[in-house]
Amino acid sequence: MDKFLIKGPSKVKGIVNISGSKNAALPILASTILFDKPVILENLPRVKDIDTMINLLKSLGSKIEFFGNKKTVKISKTNKTKYLASYYSVKTMRAGVLVLGPMIAKYHKSITSFPGGCVLNGKSGRPINFHLNALKKLGMKYEIKKGYIFAKSKGKLKGNLIKFPKISVGATENLIMAACFAIGKTVLKNCAIEPEIKDLVNFLRSAGAKIKWVGKRTCEIIGVNSLKETKYSVMGDRIEAGTFCIASTLTKGDLLIKNFNPKIIQTELNFLKKVGAKIDIFKNQIHIKGPKKIKSINNILTKEYPGFPTDLQAQFMVLLCRADGRSTITEKIFQSRFIHVMELQRLGAKINIKNNKAIIEGNRKFIGAELMSSDLRASAALVLAAMAAKDKSIISRVYHIDRGYERIEKKLKKIGVNIRRIS
Ligand code: EPZ
Repeated sequence: MDKFLIKGPSKVKGIVNISGSKNAALPILASTILFDKPVILENLPRVKDIDTMINLLKSLGSKIEFFGNKKTVKISKTNKTKYLASYYSVKTMRAGVLVLGPMIAKYHKSITSFPGGCVLNGKSGRPINFHLNALKKLGMKYEIKKGYIFAKSKGKLKGNLIKFPKISVGATENLIMAACFAIGKTVLKNCAIEPEIKDLVNFLRSAGAKIKWVGKRTCEIIGVNSLKETKYSVMGDRIEAGTFCIASTLTKGDLLIKNFNPKIIQTELNFLKKVGAKIDIFKNQIHIKGPKKIKSINNILTKEYPGFPTDLQAQFMVLLCRADGRSTITEKIFQSRFIHVMELQRLGAKINIKNNKAIIEGNRKFIGAELMSSDLRASAALVLAAMAAKDKSIISRVYHIDRGYERIEKKLKKIGVNIRRIS
């Protein structure tokens, strides 16, 4: 298993090119199950989760052809369709469940393993009840046996009015995909409106799907019989962009961050300005400089978009450890997404957790240590912390970070971080 060796403290300077968004590419890839005609996707991030989704599509019978730098892929249908998303295909990735909606819509049957993925919610786990209950309302019947969802429908799904009990990114995506072929109109209320969902909708629309937003969180879908050939470029990754913004702010850095839409990280940029970062916003890039002194912030709440993203909570916490006073972060999406705290303490952080609130003491000096990654965003936080620490840190289990950040050590090296991957 690979490790990162990082020698700090670092000061980042230079240009970073943001890769395609993992969380937009995953549902878009899953939705290609709906197509008989070929689809070309550009700007795919070369990360492990995308490989996992591509392998899952192959196992379901799709033909995959990569071009050039493997960021462009052509996905075509073969006559070897399979209906089983096996445990081995989805055990490492929560997004595996996103093939359920398209499979039911297209083939009216599916056997899908319960998905795996980052452990973010302690004992309560990461249920998929919203996905299943909503698909049931479109006519899907299912049984759960031996870790698998055995699902079927009597012919086409039928449009319905569905109000999600709580905002869920994955459930919204699964239902949008399923409703594309449902008879008549489906209205989804209380939808997640993350930019990645808008990207999925834009992709499906480019192929002729009839989807429109009729209110802030209400989406209306009129079923169609088929989707046409399309070519689409995946949006830039806002979480990767946010992580590099934090790197610059944390290390008194000076970064030009390119290839993403800064409008979709307004909330994060406002918080970064509050802690003292100097930010210039352009069309598809931002210039961000870190302050001499980082200011503390009281009560950041992670929330559904357009709120502060839970996927940047761990990275922002690192920044607040170095602020000039006490800060707090309350985690409202995954109540116990704080596994990184124990590892940050090894470097010298002082953080107390009370229920879903982290109380972060500022002015901490980090000294390098041996650290272990526990999940994707926690690993990114450890890399940032090690960059800010004096001396050497070794971070193990970096396969977590490889799931969602493309060649992170190469990008960091290019902006001056002393980082090495060791096997
Ligand atoms: C997506 O996960 C992202 N994953 C996560 O990113 C992200 O943290 C999360 O949305 C929240 O923004 C992908 O896009 C592949 P949810 P998802 O359904 O869809 C509860 C990363 O690091 N819930 O919006 O699984 C759930 O437990 C990953 O890139 C139910 O109770 O998140 C949580 O508390 C990690 N029942 C809340 O809703 C359900 O059926 C929101 O989860 C579904 C969700």
